[in-house]
Amino acid sequence: MKETDTMRNVLLGLCPYIGKIPASVMAMTKQNGQSKPMTLQPGSFTSSTQSGKAPVVPPKGSSIPQISGGIRFGDDWKKCLLLPPKDTRVRTTDVTATKGNEFEDYCLKRELLMGIFEMGWEKPSPIQEESIPIALSGRDILARAKNGTGKSGAYLIPLLERIDLKKDYVQAIVLVPTRELALQVSQISINMSKHLGGVKVMATTGGTNLRDDIMRLDEIVHVIIATPGRILDLLRKGVAKVDKAQMIVMDEADKLLSQDFVVLVEDIISFLPKNRQVLLYSATFPISVQKFMTKHLQKPYEINLMDELTLKGITQYYAYVTERQKVHCLNTLFSRLQINQSIIFCNSTQRVELLAKKITQLGYSCFYIHAKMMQEYRNRVFHDFRNGLCRNLVCTDLFTRGIDIQAVNVVINFDFPKNAETYLHRIGRSGRYGHLGLAINLITAEDRFNLKGIEDQLITDIKPIPSSIDKSLYVAEERSRRTLEVQL
Ligand SMILES: *[C@@H]1O[C@H](CO)[C@@H](O)[C@H](O)[C@H]1NC(C)=O
Ligand SMILES: *[C@@H]1O[C@H](CO)[C@@H](O)[C@H](O)[C@H]1NC(C)=O
Ligand SMILES: *[C@@H]1O[C@H](CO)[C@@H](O)[C@H](O)[C@H]1NC(C)=O
Ligand SMILES: *[C@@H]1O[C@H](CO)[C@@H](O)[C@H](O)[C@H]1NC(C)=O
Repeated sequence: MKETDTMRNVLLGLCPYIGKIPASVMAMTKQNGQSKPMTLQPGSFTSSTQSGKAPVVPPKGSSIPQISGGIRFGDDWKKCLLLPPKDTRVRTTDVTATKGNEFEDYCLKRELLMGIFEMGWEKPSPIQEESIPIALSGRDILARAKNGTGKSGAYLIPLLERIDLKKDYVQAIVLVPTRELALQVSQISINMSKHLGGVKVMATTGGTNLRDDIMRLDEIVHVIIATPGRILDLLRKGVAKVDKAQMIVMDEADKLLSQDFVVLVEDIISFLPKNRQVLLYSATFPISVQKFMTKHLQKPYEINLMDELTLKGITQYYAYVTERQKVHCLNTLFSRLQINQSIIFCNSTQRVELLAKKITQLGYSCFYIHAKMMQEYRNRVFHDFRNGLCRNLVCTDLFTRGIDIQAVNVVINFDFPKNAETYLHRIGRSGRYGHLGLAINLITAEDRFNLKGIEDQLITDIKPIPSSIDKSLYVAEERSRRTLEVQL
């Protein structure tokens, strides 16, 4: 395929310094200056890594691997990494279906690789495989991807790789719609660049002291992570200078280009040089994003990794019951299954309330929400459930985009839905590092034809429930227990 060739060419063209020592590596061997722990100062939300050319801090009991001409990947530097515990949970193909690239394939600086591995990232996710080589080549990108798939890594890795520490001006901007996301992204960049010795990342968002930001900009800043309003303010005041920035990233671009923000973003873009690179990540592609793309992106490389809701990783069963047996059946399921959190669907407001009452009487904790409750209250209940305050949630069809709560490992259709779309929205997951799950459908005589119809439409198999269910199909391996076993 054409794109694959492009990728290969890009990959090959990317290794200009194989056999040479990059300047940054040379700098690293000169151990002057004192290292101090990285801090994220509250208030100003600016952060500074070590000042000057700080040495890489070696892990306890090991020495810095010596660099003796040429980068030899697979050397012992890997043994000195401080890796977080492995995530041993089973993943579905949505995230494992990669091309099999390795981070080392991209010829990144070793110090950046160290940071990446120490984040616990072992291999690039699909969005990272698509983005990294293209972004490194300088081309514009338009990517359709959702959060939770390694999106920030997809742009931060090439962004950090391309920062030139010899230049003391702003080289890249990341625009995000919210302060929370700005802080999250800046944390990741700081952690990932900790061995790069002196990449200065600044997060600036509304709701914080403007003077602190102005003072911070008096010092060196290489990367700005910002919400549109505040950065525009700083640009207009002439405090932030981005006329030499080579790259702008827009994360959650659909939100950034919504009516509230689009004027600001257009304005921000006008402060950047003409030949800047634009990386645009968005979950959806409304007209606003398309317009912006036509106007500001040059022959963007398009990536679309948005999968629809999927039943991958979900094992589906039905139990054939009469209406009167349903509660008893549910009780049996509760006692037999290893439920971490469950969602139970009913077909009406009334039935939700009745069932919630029954479940409580049976001695299980449960919340309930339905369409007749105030939105605000519903949100709070859902939020509490998401935070694990309660094990079971009884509800009507409220979710429009699938349930993305990882802790939910069992979904029960107490009342079987009438159409395939509803079924998919209840059971399906958007494959967000999609973990495994179990779906159990209580089927009455009336539901038989619906069952068959939904199976056909979704091309899926809903089997009769067996007398015992293999735990590995839906119970996540507990990490702590695993680790403990290994330690013992
Ligand atoms: C993830 O992306 C969706 C869609 O863009 C957005 O609504 C949501 O707030 C994001 N969640 C987080 C935790 O960033
Ligand atoms: C960054 O590192 C700090 C300290 O090691 C850690 O507490 C934090 O969770 C990390 N953040 C991210 C986003 O990796
Ligand atoms: C809901 O399910 C019950 C029991 O299966 C049924 O009697 C009732 O008609 C259903 N209501 C709706 C609105 O589908
Ligand atoms: C089980 O649920 C709790 C919250 O209810 C969550 O914190 C935990 O991570 C879940 N465990 C698994 C293995 O998903």
